[in-house]
Amino acid sequence: MLVFEKTSLAKEIEQLIEKYGNSRSSLLSILQEIQANHRYISDYAQQEIARHLCIQPVEVYSVISFYAFLNSEPKGRNIVRICKTISCDMKNKMSIVKAVERELGIKIGETTSDNKFTIEYTNCLGLCDEGPAMAINERVFTRLTPQTAVENLHKVVG
Ligand code: FES
Repeated sequence: MLVFEKTSLAKEIEQLIEKYGNSRSSLLSILQEIQANHRYISDYAQQEIARHLCIQPVEVYSVISFYAFLNSEPKGRNIVRICKTISCDMKNKMSIVKAVERELGIKIGETTSDNKFTIEYTNCLGLCDEGPAMAINERVFTRLTPQTAVENLHKVVG
């Protein structure tokens, strides 16, 4: 099974190299596609991409670490990101964190056992005057209360 997964991932990466080219500037596009298709970029994928682009795997990893939307570990199908930066912090972000943790039965940094949700902190979402703010996947929600934060989880995901 693992061999099959590796072979199919290797083929997928080869196709992405054909699509985007094998220069270093293709790295982000390739990583975005692997992320979209698999929800994370495994060690094996990182090594294969590095090999094709003739760069070190650590360079691939550093790009993944830099961008919040790229993951090197498997995560839930829906990522809840709660802003931890100062404006939201001062607008009682902890009440939002506690409500979301209680609703999902997990702590920040964890994934639900059905892989439906992961909760994380994020840096400023750019809507500081409308905090506290959180994003669920690509949608951002502002002026949250504990109640609206929990409602939004169900609204977005169903
Ligand atoms: S500090 Fe939270 S959105 Fe800017």
